[in-house]
Amino acid sequence: MTLIETVKELRAWRKSAGHLVFVPTMGALHEGHATLVREARLFAGSEAKVAASIFVNPLQFGPNEDFDRYPRTLDQDLAMCAEAGADMVFAPSVQEVYHADRSIQIRESSLSHVLCGASRPGHFDGVCTVVAKLFNLMQPDEAVFGKKDYQQLAIIRRLVRDLDIPVLVHGIETVRESDGLAMSSRNRYLSAAERAQAPALRAALMQAKEAWLGGVTGSQRLIETIRAVLASQASLGRPDYITLVDQQTLQPLTIAHEHSLIALAVFFDKARLIDNIELSH
Ligand code: PAJ
Repeated sequence: MTLIETVKELRAWRKSAGHLVFVPTMGALHEGHATLVREARLFAGSEAKVAASIFVNPLQFGPNEDFDRYPRTLDQDLAMCAEAGADMVFAPSVQEVYHADRSIQIRESSLSHVLCGASRPGHFDGVCTVVAKLFNLMQPDEAVFGKKDYQQLAIIRRLVRDLDIPVLVHGIETVRESDGLAMSSRNRYLSAAERAQAPALRAALMQAKEAWLGGVTGSQRLIETIRAVLASQASLGRPDYITLVDQQTLQPLTIAHEHSLIALAVFFDKARLIDNIELSH
């Protein structure tokens, strides 16, 4: 596996790479990321190439967020990418990616105002800007994202559509710990007591889906089901939002339909956890 740290080297590598499947990450890789790389390998087959990027993007962190203390574990990450079947990892410095006097940025004005976007102003503009730049640098034919960050995936699909970027976007199911907790680089911020309660997010979403399968479609009743589970099983957590939305537009719904999604975020002391469930048969 090749490690590339500069744009110049990347451009040279890309010239002879052929069909390319790309997995963007911020490092601190876990089994969820490794699964994305393995899926990329499956999409690529034996002929095409798989590349991942490892870049903690300052633009998508708010002033009080964890940019400085975001875990950086490059050696481990590289071993994981190699094991999962990547041919190349692009791990640039911030200076390599952003010019000091940069003055152009992407702004998304609809899907990013709900869910996580409501409490993280500018976050998804930062994501769109870096992903557009990474797409321009990598020039992938396909890219792989996780459904764990469902809003991000929906926004990337919109970015690619609205800016006519010729990349096929794949969404991959959330990879979970055995107790149901969605794997996340931020789970390491949880105390032991919080970690013990964190699977309640998944349990609550599953109960709401059961209710929906049983005929409950009103958003209030579905959300109430979730609140009740969280109140009894995740007393250390404080819900940020619990919302029923359309899977593509992310606009809030009062009645669940066949392409709905329930997404939630819960604050624990040092970590804000997110999860979601698709309401589809
Ligand atoms: P990061 O949080 O490192 O996630 C990289 C990719 O891994 C994303 O597509 C995310 O949805 C996926 N992922 C994370 N946890 C997962 C899990 N448990 N199961 C499945 N997929 C999972 O998302 C970002 O980085 C950044 O915003 C990025 C797109 C790289 C732009 O900076």
